[in-house]
Amino acid sequence: MSINIESYVSHFRALLEAQLDRVEKMENNAERTDFATKEKIVIGVIGGDGIGPIIVDEARRVASKLLAKEIESGKIEIREIEGLTIENRLEKNQPVPTDVLAAIKECDVLLKGPTTTPKGGTMESANVTLRRELDLYANVRPVCVPEKNIDWIFYRENTEGEYVLGSKGFEIPDKLAFDFKVTTNAGTRRIARAAFEYAKANGKTNVSIVTKANIMKKTDGKFSLICNEIASEYPGITAEEWYIDIMAANLVNEDIRSKFQVFVLPNLYGDIITDEAAQIQGGVGTAGSANIGDKYAMFEAIHGTAPRMIEEGLGDYANPQSILKALAMLLRHIGMGDKAQILDDAMAKVDAEGKVVVTGTKDGSTCREYGDCLVSLI
Ligand code: IPM
Ligand code: MG
Repeated sequence: MSINIESYVSHFRALLEAQLDRVEKMENNAERTDFATKEKIVIGVIGGDGIGPIIVDEARRVASKLLAKEIESGKIEIREIEGLTIENRLEKNQPVPTDVLAAIKECDVLLKGPTTTPKGGTMESANVTLRRELDLYANVRPVCVPEKNIDWIFYRENTEGEYVLGSKGFEIPDKLAFDFKVTTNAGTRRIARAAFEYAKANGKTNVSIVTKANIMKKTDGKFSLICNEIASEYPGITAEEWYIDIMAANLVNEDIRSKFQVFVLPNLYGDIITDEAAQIQGGVGTAGSANIGDKYAMFEAIHGTAPRMIEEGLGDYANPQSILKALAMLLRHIGMGDKAQILDDAMAKVDAEGKVVVTGTKDGSTCREYGDCLVSLI
C-alpha cells in the first residue's frame, strides 16, 4: 500500500501556519490585569473530577472565611463555575465546553481542582486547553523543605514545548508516529523574564536553566540561548546551565541540592521534575501550582484526580494541602499577601499541633477534618 505523504505534509503545513499565528499574537499582546487598581476581583472556583470537588470544597470554605470582609463589601466575588467535569466534556466532545470557557473568561483568577485527562484518543487535557486559551505561560511551583535547607521555585514554560501540539501529532498505521515540540522566541523570552524578575524581586542569586539542548538542538537550544540572553540583563544573578537528566539526579543529591534556588525549564521537563521535587517535600498532595498569564491566572493542585482513591472509597481522606497552597498563591497574586500569610501560618500550625494528619488512608484524618481545623485557626 502506498503512503500518501502529501496528506501528512499538508497536515504539518497547517500546524506550522497556526504556530506562526500564535507567535504573532504573543508578539502583539498588550492585555494586562492590574489587580492593584481593579475595583472588583472575580475568583472562579472549579471543582473538577475525582477528589477535586472534595478538596476544592475545603479551599472554598477557607477562602470565604479569609475574604469575608472583601466579599461583603463587593471587592471580591467567589463564583462557582459549573460543567468542567469529564462527563460534560465527553458529552460535548470538547476539552473545555464553549459555555464553560466563556464563564471562565468572565473571571479574573481561577482556583481549579484536578480534571480527568483521557489517555489516547484526541481529547485534549482540560489543563492544556485552559493554559493555552487563557495564555497562562508561567507554571510556577514552589517547593520548600526548611529542615533540609530546600527552598526551590520552578518556572515551567506552560504553553508550548511538547504540549502545544501534543494532541496534533500523526500516525501512519503499522509504520510510525510523529509528535511535535515547538519553542518560540517570544514564548521563551516571557518565561525567562518571569523567572529572572522573580529572582530579582526576591533576592535570589542563582537561576538554573534546565534543558536537554545537547539532544533537542533546535528547540532546547533556542530555549537555552534566549534564557542566557535574558540573564545578561540581570547582573547580580548567576545563570547556570544544566541538563534535565543530571538535574533529576541533583534534586536527590543532598550534597548539592540546597544551592539551587530558581529553575526555568521547558514544559515537559518542568512537568516531570516538579513531581519529583514535590515528592521530596512530602508528596504531590503537598505542592501548589500557579499558572500565570498577563491577563488571567489559574491556581491548582499539582496532582491529578486520584481515581484509585475514589474507587477504593477513600475520597474523603484526600489531602487538601496542595489546593490550599494554590489558594495562598492566588491570594498573593491578587495583592492579598496578608491573607496568604494567615493561611500559611494556620497550615503550619495544624502541622505543628499534629492532631489532624491527612494520610490519604482511613488511618488518617479526613479532608473535612483538616478544613475544620484550619477554619477554626483563621
Ligand atoms: C500538571 C499535570 C498536567 C500536565 C496534566 C494533568 C495535563 O501533570 O499540571 O503537572 O501534564 O501539565
Ligand atoms: Mg504534572
